[in-house]
Amino acid sequence: MRPSIIAIDGPAAAGKSTLGERLARELGYTYFDTGVMYRAITWIAIKRGIPVEDEESITALAFSLHIEVTTPTVQDGRQCSVFVDGEDVTWDIRRPEVDRVVSIVSAYPGVRKALLNQQRRIGLKGRIVVVGRDIGTVVLPEADLKIYLDASLEERARRRWKELLARGKDISYQEVLETMRDRDRIDSTRYVAPLHPAEDAIIIDTTSMGIDEVYRKVLELIGDA
Ligand code: DC
Repeated sequence: MRPSIIAIDGPAAAGKSTLGERLARELGYTYFDTGVMYRAITWIAIKRGIPVEDEESITALAFSLHIEVTTPTVQDGRQCSVFVDGEDVTWDIRRPEVDRVVSIVSAYPGVRKALLNQQRRIGLKGRIVVVGRDIGTVVLPEADLKIYLDASLEERARRRWKELLARGKDISYQEVLETMRDRDRIDSTRYVAPLHPAEDAIIIDTTSMGIDEVYRKVLELIGDA
């Protein structure tokens, strides 16, 4: 039987969202990128001038915001639309200033608590591909198929840098590399739900693989699942 809940975890820019979106489209499943929720909280904090180091205020903010993730409402290259209290923040949450501090925000236990039940409720509906850092380990340990995508730090930084350049951002490779190194460290050493593969996850190293190759491999796995 085809897996109904598919979890894809791994570090930043390992190819999770590209794979997840394509897989969901192929299977006729919902695509749900949980990272956008942490990004949305971070962006609103920046916009309102709340220091990201202020854990109490950031946690209160996380509980107060209404975040909605939907299928694309505009055909402008987005994989999903993200609304906070009705405002479209889909592109703002991809800004480099969000990249720089989102790991700090997502390490706060209260922030994770605010999002966990929402993520679980959406995921448990099934026929869904859920992408994140802790989906197979914490959010949906009952997922039918767990994939952990990995790649070297340098390769992931190169991919993210190219993405930012394509969107017209003026940023150096070195800066992207440093931001990514920091995020890796914070994401994998935080106390609550640190980034690591679930025991029953299938690990795929995509450093020297193209997206088509990764995609074919996962389709094979689904055939076997
Ligand atoms: O996948 P991304 O780069 O959009 O994720 C943004 C941040 O959110 C990342 O630094 C880690 C965090 N995150 C998380 O802690 N748990 C998730 N399930 C998804 C993302």
